[in-house]
Amino acid sequence: MLHVLRHPLASHLMASLRDHATPPGEFRGLAHRLGLLLAMEATRDLPTQAATVTTPLENTAAQRLAHPLVVVPILRAGLGMVQPFIDLFPDVSVGYVGLERDHATAVAHSYYCKLPPLAGRTVVLVDPMLATGGSAAQALTLLKSHGASALRMVCVVSAPEGVATLHTSHPDVPVFTAAHDRGLNERKYILPGLGDFGDRLYGT
Ligand code: PRP
Ligand code: URA
Repeated sequence: MLHVLRHPLASHLMASLRDHATPPGEFRGLAHRLGLLLAMEATRDLPTQAATVTTPLENTAAQRLAHPLVVVPILRAGLGMVQPFIDLFPDVSVGYVGLERDHATAVAHSYYCKLPPLAGRTVVLVDPMLATGGSAAQALTLLKSHGASALRMVCVVSAPEGVATLHTSHPDVPVFTAAHDRGLNERKYILPGLGDFGDRLYGT
């Protein structure tokens, strides 16, 4: 259920995202471009339904997306992964889940939730960092309690610990990642990782 993005451009973008000297303006652009590649990868198997269209010359069989798509970022860092989905799927609905890790315990607490209808839709949870997996597991539980059943999770960097947590708590949810890293340090930051994604994205 773990899909690691294999693309030379993804590797190239990851190199600059990891670089501590990359300033916020450039970091945002890189995150956007990598988000586009991840969004393409994570939606590769979306169901389609048969349609007929009339070209300037004749009728022909075609395929259209079968279900509406919903993207749900975990605030705050997940916001940086929403625009790529809007660029590719202009009609996408956007929900929001606010979770923040306690700096001492690394346990996330919820501070915001605003969701569109989720039942019968493909729901993509986006959060750039899957570290312990606590935030994503909590968000997925919340989304399921609001009716979501066709879920997938997209992140930029994952740690084995986070993937294992999701595999145990939400085995039905595939994870798409641009990089699967070595592990966590004692403060539950991903190694080698790229640091605090939210801080780097927003210059805080
Ligand atoms: C980061 C990140 C994830 C979470 C991952 O958010 O964006 O939401 O940590 O860690 P976990 O897998 O151990 O739960 P953070 O709590 O730093 O908040 P922010 O997005 O506001 O920066
Ligand atoms: N959140 C981040 O932003 N980075 C990490 O390495 C872990 C959690």
